[in-house]
Amino acid sequence: MTTQASALTRIETPLTEMLGIRYPIIQAPMFLVSNVDMVVAASEAGAIGTFPALNYRPIEKYVEALKEMKKRTKKPIGLNIIVNKSNTRAKEDLKHALDAGVNLFITSLGSPKEVITEAHKNGAKVVCDVINLEHAKKVQDLGADGVIAVGAGAGGHAGPLSPIVLVNWLKHELDIPVIAAGGIANGATMASMLAVGAAGVSIGTRFIASTEARVEQAYKDAIVNSSPEDIVMTTRISGTPAAVIKTPYVERMGLDLPWYLKFAKDQKTLKKYVVPLIHYLGSKKLEEAATGPSWKTVWSAGQSVGLVEDILSCDQIIKNLVVEYEETLKNLPKVQ
Ligand SMILES: Cc1cc2nc3c(=O)[nH]c(=O)nc-3n(C[C@H](O)[C@H](O)[C@H](O)COP(=O)(O)O)c2cc1C
Repeated sequence: MTTQASALTRIETPLTEMLGIRYPIIQAPMFLVSNVDMVVAASEAGAIGTFPALNYRPIEKYVEALKEMKKRTKKPIGLNIIVNKSNTRAKEDLKHALDAGVNLFITSLGSPKEVITEAHKNGAKVVCDVINLEHAKKVQDLGADGVIAVGAGAGGHAGPLSPIVLVNWLKHELDIPVIAAGGIANGATMASMLAVGAAGVSIGTRFIASTEARVEQAYKDAIVNSSPEDIVMTTRISGTPAAVIKTPYVERMGLDLPWYLKFAKDQKTLKKYVVPLIHYLGSKKLEEAATGPSWKTVWSAGQSVGLVEDILSCDQIIKNLVVEYEETLKNLPKVQ
């Protein structure tokens, strides 16, 4: 589809106001998928492009990537930092991002306290991934500028709650903007989230099937060809449930950790060694499948694969979201 959004259109929400962007759309950070081209294209298209710092290793490559993004777009860009102990680069990543003038930080896992304090000194904003009210209230108290409510069906580490319930619930309970994540891939799903009170949407899976994503063609094709029922949760990537496409390789591997790793993970003395090991082994599997031709197909994606029909440029994906959003609003049945 090649619909066009007018260069003058805007959708104003607390999120667009917070960041000074045209559309309330975050191109979500995706391990191994997000790259400089995607971030620049999304931000230039009026959304905000973001990426996980760890997509660029070693750290020199990350500093280079930040520089290149800031050179190629004057629009706001965002960075995802994993703020738990397993990420030994977190402090350095934050410092370089602040020096480069990153505008938005997305934190996942762990406490975002330091990121919030340092980002605010620089005039940057911080939104935190949450899957329940308890964590959402905690980050609100710490001074977060918003939360990303990650619902069931999302790519990555999805929460257990229906996104439509989670967003509407958090909207009533919190004083800061709530951004919806999980299952959004077109204008209709975006409209549904704004209707229940979301200040914006954060979209991952849809952007894997983009021309700019530098992943294997087979991975992009799998996004287009899979149905929501093909998505299964596995603990084999990181120890906590993560969404992947059920390929023959995933089926053979099994969805649960082998008994000896599960046992070791539950032992207090072993946990600190075993969890990083599970992360390392899982990331290697994802990396092999995402970036090289491989029969070991472990492809990370959410249930919205069922709504993705084509591989398009990031710019066109964002234009389509806006045009379809407007069409959805127009076509809603009216009260007579
Ligand atoms: C391939 C893939 C990798 C992801 N990697 C990360 C990550 O590194 N950090 C993070 O905070 N979220 C990550 N996520 C979650 C996304 O940022 C976002 O919350 C999610 O994709 C939204 O749901 P959707 O896929 O249904 O659009 C990832 C998601 C996918 C599909």
